[in-house]
Amino acid sequence: MKALDLKDIFHKELDAIYGKDEVASFFFLCLGHYLDVARIQLQLEPEFTINKSETEQFFITLEALKQQKPIQYIFGKTEFYGLKFKVSEDVLIPRQETEELVNWIITCHPEIDSKPTKILDIGTGSGCIPVSLAKNLPNAKVYALDVSKKALETAKHNARQNEVDITFIETDILNEATWDSEFKDLEFDIIVSNPPYVRNIEKAEIQPNVLDNEPHLALFVEDDNPLIFYKAITEFTVNNLKQNGQLYFEINQYLGNETKQLLVDANFDDLELRKDLSGNDRMLKGIKK
Ligand SMILES: C[S@@+](CC[C@H](N)C(=O)[O-])C[C@H]1O[C@@H](n2cnc3c(N)ncnc32)[C@H](O)[C@@H]1O
Repeated sequence: MKALDLKDIFHKELDAIYGKDEVASFFFLCLGHYLDVARIQLQLEPEFTINKSETEQFFITLEALKQQKPIQYIFGKTEFYGLKFKVSEDVLIPRQETEELVNWIITCHPEIDSKPTKILDIGTGSGCIPVSLAKNLPNAKVYALDVSKKALETAKHNARQNEVDITFIETDILNEATWDSEFKDLEFDIIVSNPPYVRNIEKAEIQPNVLDNEPHLALFVEDDNPLIFYKAITEFTVNNLKQNGQLYFEINQYLGNETKQLLVDANFDDLELRKDLSGNDRMLKGIKK
């Protein structure tokens, strides 16, 4: 089948759901993913044809897209901070805001390469944060934890795939009884976390493709205690973040001031609330006094 005819079918079936531009982008992503063919190829060769079995693959993807399945889950992979990551329904699809958080840490800490630094990522999911930190700060000793065994399997795969050494810990940050003695005694220079922070009252703002496919364990908190993870992690820093150590959070855009106040109350210094590229309060940093 001619690739351009197949593209027309994608538009006919999907434009009403996603809009023309996004559908074109899906089609070209498929072209790259299944055939390793770049978009420009279709302009150079408008008669470009796709064989029967490959066409079948495009139709399977089309059906999954109709069901609002995220394209990253369909392909089983995504990119984050210029690196390749495996993703599945067991982990959140890494977001651009989280890349901004990682970039903040990397650009703030050129000194990490000259002195031993221990970093912990809490709620690691796909491992996008620790893997990109370890790749860009090769002398840091990086740890990552999650309560989800399946998420940790994916994160371990991503560490191997990107050739970085990370210590993974399966534990529940909300339940000290699950922390083993070795973990309890670790002291870090930097702690980072993008924990679950979406309230049930915000569900209406969430796209159906996120709501129906991404793990709710990674996303949601109760309306009456939305900062539960931030409180637990701040409490954890009392014993496990060194003096002058740094805490970085990705935060709920509607709870910037409340989250900041939590760190003020815990005696953190040099607090900085940062907006993401869309102009929403999204990141917070503090230094432990
Ligand atoms: C918002 S996701 C972030 C995933 C990844 N760090 C990222 O930025 O894409 C939150 C993660 O926290 C994990 N999580 C949820 N509850 C947890 C708990 N009680 N203890 C540790 N991790 C938890 C989830 O499994 C999920 O992987």
